[in-house]
Amino acid sequence: MESKIISDSDKKNTNTNKLEELEARRSLAQLGGGEEKNKTQKKKGKLLARERLSLLFDNGEFEEFDQFITHRSQEFGLDKQKYEGDSVVCGVGQVNGKQVFAFSQDFTVLGGSLSEVASMKICKLMDHAVKTGCPVVGINDSGGARIQEGVESLAGYGEIFRRNTMASGVIPQITVIAGPSAGGAVYSPALTDFIFMVEEIGQMYITGPEVIQAVTGEKVNHQELGGSKTHSQKSGVVHVSTKNETECFNKVRELLSYLPSNNLDDPENLESSDSVNRISEKLKSIIPNEANQSYDMKEIIREIVDSGKIFEIHKDFAPNIITCLSRFNGQVVGIVANQPLSLAGVLDIDASVKAARFVRFCDAFNIPILTLVDVPGFMPGVNQEFGGIIRHGAKLLYAYSEATVPKITIIVRKAYGGAYIVMGSKELRSDINLAWPSAEIAVMGPEGAVKIISRKIIQESENKEETQNKLVEEYKDKFANPFVAASRGYLDDVIDPSTTRSKIISSLKMLQTKSDNNIPKKHGNIPL
Ligand code: HXC
Repeated sequence: MESKIISDSDKKNTNTNKLEELEARRSLAQLGGGEEKNKTQKKKGKLLARERLSLLFDNGEFEEFDQFITHRSQEFGLDKQKYEGDSVVCGVGQVNGKQVFAFSQDFTVLGGSLSEVASMKICKLMDHAVKTGCPVVGINDSGGARIQEGVESLAGYGEIFRRNTMASGVIPQITVIAGPSAGGAVYSPALTDFIFMVEEIGQMYITGPEVIQAVTGEKVNHQELGGSKTHSQKSGVVHVSTKNETECFNKVRELLSYLPSNNLDDPENLESSDSVNRISEKLKSIIPNEANQSYDMKEIIREIVDSGKIFEIHKDFAPNIITCLSRFNGQVVGIVANQPLSLAGVLDIDASVKAARFVRFCDAFNIPILTLVDVPGFMPGVNQEFGGIIRHGAKLLYAYSEATVPKITIIVRKAYGGAYIVMGSKELRSDINLAWPSAEIAVMGPEGAVKIISRKIIQESENKEETQNKLVEEYKDKFANPFVAASRGYLDDVIDPSTTRSKIISSLKMLQTKSDNNIPKKHGNIPL
């Protein structure tokens, strides 16, 4: 048989042709669904999938995976509609100098719908993230399961949901909703730690407006049903709502700066230019003289943290409790605080669930918890009882009880009833419990308590109002102060409010090497 000897110049030509093919295929992949679809995406006010990843990663740089994957479907004409990379762009890069994995659904390819291979890409990325111990950011802009593929696409979602669950508490998972997220597809975001939504373009719902109208007769538009206002204020599905995509990705980067890469790491300590021993005179007079007067708890928080900087989670949902990340002398701390400005800081269903989830996140990722208490109790009311305040409130008890990270609690004013116990009490394994002199720790507020325990005396007295006022004053003298609790050791100290920052920093230092474990078990049974 005659053999052909390939010359060096032939080899060079062949290699050049192969490189040209590679470049041509890459350029095609970069086009996503094509120029027309890209234009339509822009007209809808949305960025392209790769532009979004550029906003997320340091210097806009990332490495892509699986650019040449294509779907295998033959039905409904899909055999003639193939796109290099299919409907999701997957990549790895740096965020604040640390490795992060991210996927970005490409709406220009068949509406970003999830195909079997798109799911394979996402799952591969998530597997890499878990094995290497790095956070995952998922950018959602999709019409849901690829209808033409049927069960293959449904199974794809199942594979993602399982990985979301297994990665929960191992690596931080963050979702960005920058387009539609409909049907069962919403459950992948819901299984992640934080959901960001971009106003106007982001929407999430199980069933859209048309189906709702057909089934229940209710009329609602897409934004009212599943837009950022709805989910960041009413449902609590969204943790951070932003005006536009640039703000959104800046916020995601900011959040990541507070988080460790995985559950075995600690969050990064940064240099702080704020003085450790900074005294805040303002805190001495921040609590109003009248018990039922409100004030802004955020003012206290901003006074004590490094340079007044906080990252709020669920800012507009259950505003009667504040959950935020911040730093003390450069160390990351999660803060839970009652907000007297909203519903007097009472604990209701939404506040309990919001705080419980935050406490569990902090505990999973080695973030110490600071609790600032001014709580008049659990919210009374038929709606609250029917809504299950018992089981929802129990979530917060459960979360604090099981948390083993350093826990510091400061009672600044009211700590009444069950809410005293819930909000990081000593009994729920808090390490350091402090109080301001303005603290009032009691089973309930003075007026309510006197009406119950002294009803007979008041009724039988000549001047009921005078008697009641006198008894209220007596009750206040006895209980409306921190010294009874301090004398029993339920508090470690009563402090001058102006020194709060330095006390927190010294407590954190003392607790730096804290080690505590729960009894080994398969898993607990948190009241759901
Ligand atoms: C295949 C889809 C698709 C899907 C959209 N497209 N959704 N293709 N499967 N799920 C295609 C459209 O046919 C269209 O193709 C292109 O994407 C753009 O869609 P438009 O409708 O033109 O865009 P827009 O007007 O912006 O509307 C977006 C939308 C709408 C609101 C998302 O497309 C829509 O309602 N899609 C269906 C949503 C849905 O019900 N999905 C199934 C959910 S159930 P052409 O070629 O015309 O450009 C689900 C189950 C998951 O996901 C279960 C997991 C457990």
